[in-house]
Amino acid sequence: MDTIHLTQITDLHLGTDASATLGGVPTLASFEAVLQAVADQGRGTDTLLLTGDLASHCQPEAYRLLNSTLNAHQKQAIWLPGNHDDSQLMAANLVNFPPRSVVDLGAWGLLTLDSSQPNKPGGHISDLQLQHVEQGLQTLAGKYILLAMHHSPLPVGCAWLDKQQIDNQQQLQELLSRQGNVRAVITGHVHQQFDGHWGQLPIYSTPSSCVQFKQHSEDFALSEQPPGYRWLDLHSDGTVHTGVEFLRGFAPHPNLDCASY
Ligand SMILES: [Fe+2]
Repeated sequence: MDTIHLTQITDLHLGTDASATLGGVPTLASFEAVLQAVADQGRGTDTLLLTGDLASHCQPEAYRLLNSTLNAHQKQAIWLPGNHDDSQLMAANLVNFPPRSVVDLGAWGLLTLDSSQPNKPGGHISDLQLQHVEQGLQTLAGKYILLAMHHSPLPVGCAWLDKQQIDNQQQLQELLSRQGNVRAVITGHVHQQFDGHWGQLPIYSTPSSCVQFKQHSEDFALSEQPPGYRWLDLHSDGTVHTGVEFLRGFAPHPNLDCASY
């Protein structure tokens, strides 16, 4: 069977129009530059996994802007919400990209879950989401599983971000390790690359399509790193090849004096 090619793009922080910026970087322009880089890499037909914080303040206009941009670039996309999103507004405005949280990809299955909670930046897996994972694993039984969610269940080495990691990760980990067919977990939120292990499970966090957070920082700080994305090749024997790419020559650069986001 064929290898499944996916591209993860995360933490777009789109605003209501093209003038919106985060840390001095125009978020629509940087997202479109990432789409171009993905195409230049020969992955223009990959299905996109958009792993949350697609809007900066859950504005309906931001989701409509995303819908039209994805259409203009003829993309297939699967999305999940982050702490800056509202899943109902996403579903209402991403009209050409209906919610899909249990996806049959052939030899592989994709499970997405919502790790956000109202009015808090940190991650939590609700009982409803735990049930969703349990049912999804049953639906996709016999396949290798990729799980995607916004928040990390692990510390990434930034004290301020590590306070926001999923606060009940153990319940989810027990559920995922029960069957042995979950092969990788991908997350967003931390605006930086992180490759690690959550117990036996490989876990990957991915740079934002706009600005990156400084690695190993106690407090909020931006990094000089440019916009980025992650590619994933899911092979039919259950192995995963993945890597992160950063844009080359993208301007404007982030404003490193930015004190919050
Ligand atoms: Fe986030």
